[in-house]
Amino acid sequence: MDSPASSSSTAPGVAPAVPQSSRTETTPTLIDIQNVDFAYGDTKALHDITLQIPEKRVTAFIGPSGCGKSTLLRCLNRMNDLIDGAKVERGSIKIRDIDIYRPDVDVIELRKRVGMVFQKSNPFPKSIYENITYGLRLQGESNKARLDEVVERSLRGAALWDEVKDRLHTSGLGLSGGQQQRLCIARAIAVAPEIILMDEPCSALDPIATAKVEELIHELKEKFTIVIVTHNMQQAARCSDGTAFFYLGKLIEYAETQTIFMNPGNPQTEAYVSGRFG
Ligand SMILES: Nc1ncnc2c1ncn2[C@@H]1O[C@H](COP(=O)(O)OP(=O)(O)OP(=O)(O)O)[C@@H](O)[C@H]1O
Ligand SMILES: [Mg+2]
Repeated sequence: MDSPASSSSTAPGVAPAVPQSSRTETTPTLIDIQNVDFAYGDTKALHDITLQIPEKRVTAFIGPSGCGKSTLLRCLNRMNDLIDGAKVERGSIKIRDIDIYRPDVDVIELRKRVGMVFQKSNPFPKSIYENITYGLRLQGESNKARLDEVVERSLRGAALWDEVKDRLHTSGLGLSGGQQQRLCIARAIAVAPEIILMDEPCSALDPIATAKVEELIHELKEKFTIVIVTHNMQQAARCSDGTAFFYLGKLIEYAETQTIFMNPGNPQTEAYVSGRFG
């Protein structure tokens, strides 16, 4: 199907680019992706992707393995720049109306604004305290009172403070898997990003740790805009406001999460969310 999201038309099977619920004054578009083609060398991974991600909402990317979810996520903070031969070949990605691929964009600054949490938690082999303060120290912050304050605020924000407040100076690697993932979320929020990208953040976690991270995602959207890739349909249904379904590098349908799961407009979406393929 051609660029299903490039139109806000109500033609049957054609999804609007922005979930209807986000077309309000209170949820303006934060990330505006227009007609993006992306390739790894000669291999196209994304075809003509157009979607708008609203501010302070959780947007889920779903779709079968290899459909381009992580690729698109990494386009949003230019992490793909680190891969040889990988590039956005066409289209634009704007955050607050600034094209993030403009040559004068400071990529380090961009990645501060657009933080990332990966599938496998990756704390630095340092203390919990140093994990959280790492980014701020890089930015030149050395005031202990200020660092202490950020550590507590970030750990509280990641629902981890009570579990670790008495062991801040022990290794982050000594935490459980679920705690390490929340530590990585705390590290991401310590530098006060606007956007947090999460690539299957719960896939290595047990159901209890997953529930905690999901609860946290729900709280974080008060302050942050979250884009989450997940293979877990229940998770997408539980914690996102809008859901985009991708297949073979194309955006097939993007709508309110409830619509995607209860009343999808496209038969491929329906087949995927009901577990009939992928
Ligand atoms: N570093 C890379 N170099 C070359 N091709 C890549 C690279 N990373 C991804 N690809 C290819 O791009 C396509 C999209 O991959 P991507 O990782 O974005 O998929 P995905 O939807 O995140 O899949 P999964 O659910 O398995 O994580 C795939 O065909 C993949 O093989
Ligand atoms: Mg992926």
